[in-house]
Amino acid sequence: MRIVSGIQPTGNLHLGNYLGAIRNWVAMQDEWTAKGGECLYFLADLHAISMPHVPAELRAGTREMVAALVACGIDPKRSILFNQTQVPAHAELQWLLNGTARMGWLNRMTQWKDKAGKNREGASVALFTYPVLQAADVLLYQATHVPVGEDQKQHLELARDIAQKFNNDFASEEAPVFTLPEPIIPPEAARIMSLRDGGAKMSKSDPSDMSRINLTDDADAIMQKVRKAKTDPEPLPSEKEGLEGRPEAANLVGIYAAMAGMSQADVLSQFGGQGFGAFKPALGELLVEKLSPITARYRDLRTDTAALDAILADGAARAKALAAPTLERAYAALGLLRG
Ligand code: TYM
Repeated sequence: MRIVSGIQPTGNLHLGNYLGAIRNWVAMQDEWTAKGGECLYFLADLHAISMPHVPAELRAGTREMVAALVACGIDPKRSILFNQTQVPAHAELQWLLNGTARMGWLNRMTQWKDKAGKNREGASVALFTYPVLQAADVLLYQATHVPVGEDQKQHLELARDIAQKFNNDFASEEAPVFTLPEPIIPPEAARIMSLRDGGAKMSKSDPSDMSRINLTDDADAIMQKVRKAKTDPEPLPSEKEGLEGRPEAANLVGIYAAMAGMSQADVLSQFGGQGFGAFKPALGELLVEKLSPITARYRDLRTDTAALDAILADGAARAKALAAPTLERAYAALGLLRG
């Protein structure tokens, strides 16, 4: 059992990241490291240069993301927490996998289509080959499970396709080079939507800060963002079917359910018939109650640069050791002569 997942260290950790992925990272760490499994969690800083970025912000954001992950419950002793750049095997394996990945596969990726938009000629090559690096991230460690939000499912399927083709082309059935990883996607919070638009996912890159709850927001900001969240004028329905065609209402109910550890049906049996005037303050208070311990820990950790760098150095050393055998096997399988 080996669990691998990553997050881009750009912008703040937000509620979508937390409910879609990080909460599962912590749960899997708690469950699997006790049974001898390994968890590797990393900052995908190489992925972050596929879009325009400010170098100083990326450097600061990488340390801040380490602090945020530790504040959420990632324990750098039990898990291996590291920065992608500090383990060069990720970039090396990506190049090796570029020989296996097909242009047609990458052309079908919805993230590529969304982020490149109409200006494909002007998009970076890194944005196009981004999913190959993501495949390298997990295949390098023989990951068995990858906890992610729904939006990363397609990239994981591509990683499986790359692994399968590489194994078919360059390895024997008895001794495959790569393990095919399984995505783990949470049932209740696979896709948290923007607070301003129920049709767009909550995202670090949305220019409006009112569209997302950041894990660094204080209580006033959280209450205000929830109060101003877009909704419709109808009261909440008593059953889940009543949320159909009401994406903003469905999103807020989904957030409440995920945060409270309840099903959406239970949330609706409690709040059905009530308007948003009653539901929004209850949701805001729940968020403040659950997030304030994380925010407090984050504030303590984020300024201790030396401690954060020490976590990354230790994580990189442990990750390198786990990556080395697979990287060597991939070079050898391709007939690349190493000294
Ligand atoms: P990133 O940095 O965009 O997001 C990190 C994690 O948060 C999840 N997520 C969401 N889940 C639910 N609702 C949302 N609105 C929402 N927004 C983000 C993402 O699904 C992700 O799990 N390409 C990846 C980083 C990456 C990676 C990897 C992940 C690089 N290599 C290898 C897994 C394995 C990304 O940009 O995630």
